[in-house]
Amino acid sequence: MPADNIRLDDPLRPHFHFLPPQNWMNDPNGLIQWHGRYHLFYQHNPHAAVWGDIHWGHAVSDDLVHWEHLPIALAPTPNSPDARGVWSGCIVDNNGIATAIYTGVTGDQHQKQVVCIATSTNENLVTWEKHAQNPVQMEIPAHLTSAGFRDPYVWWHEGQWKMVIGAGTRGGAEHVLLYASDDLYQWEYIDILFSSENQNDYVYECPNFFKLGNKWVLMVSVMSESHVEVFVGLFWQNHFIPETHTRIGKDGSFFAPLTFEDDHHRRIMIGWIREQRPVAQHQAAGWA
Ligand code: FRU
Repeated sequence: MPADNIRLDDPLRPHFHFLPPQNWMNDPNGLIQWHGRYHLFYQHNPHAAVWGDIHWGHAVSDDLVHWEHLPIALAPTPNSPDARGVWSGCIVDNNGIATAIYTGVTGDQHQKQVVCIATSTNENLVTWEKHAQNPVQMEIPAHLTSAGFRDPYVWWHEGQWKMVIGAGTRGGAEHVLLYASDDLYQWEYIDILFSSENQNDYVYECPNFFKLGNKWVLMVSVMSESHVEVFVGLFWQNHFIPETHTRIGKDGSFFAPLTFEDDHHRRIMIGWIREQRPVAQHQAAGWA
């Protein structure tokens, strides 16, 4: 149900697409099927219908169509590495412990971006505990991350955890960096998995890397023109060899998509549609 202050007869408010009970949302995060039910977390400002003070909102579904809102899952902790926001990330099943690997941000311009962990042993994933030693230990190559370092996506691969994370060089290219770990808490930097050809002076956002059939798919969200780049190719000895390339969306019509594999081994993708109304309008409406 939407919040009390939301007009139910608002002809613009979607009835089919998911949105929070009130206020702002952006990227889907931490998609996972857990004890049979589908969980959707998302970038959420609980205080206003504009981007800011980012938390992880949470909803659950049995069919991916009907969603039930659950309490906010993760909030910024003052004087911690996520004091200025709990930004995008993923959730993996670490031997029965749901483990969220997300971006913690601090700094006036949200410029300090690190990887943090929170865990839940709760069947409905409603309570979360942040790791006492956040952020996780990892080498962060300064020249590759001067424009940003965020949005970890983790998967289990041939006996190890692997992570792709968005990065970028000030005045230079956007990158996807590859890491490996045995325990999720200590990460070894492997290499650049992929870099943009253009010197976009920004960061590849929300990289997603997964096997589909016998190919590998790399998706990145690109802020200029607000669209998604998709590369399909081979992944061999930590190298990605793209063979084909396509784009999804334009001008925010589909952004920051995240995929997960469900219990039926279906690869499911959920993305974000950017608000098109002027800011004053969605602020006044109380939702975006
Ligand atoms: C993409 C993005 C991510 C970041 C999050 C912040 O829309 O900018 O890169 O983690 O949103 O809300």
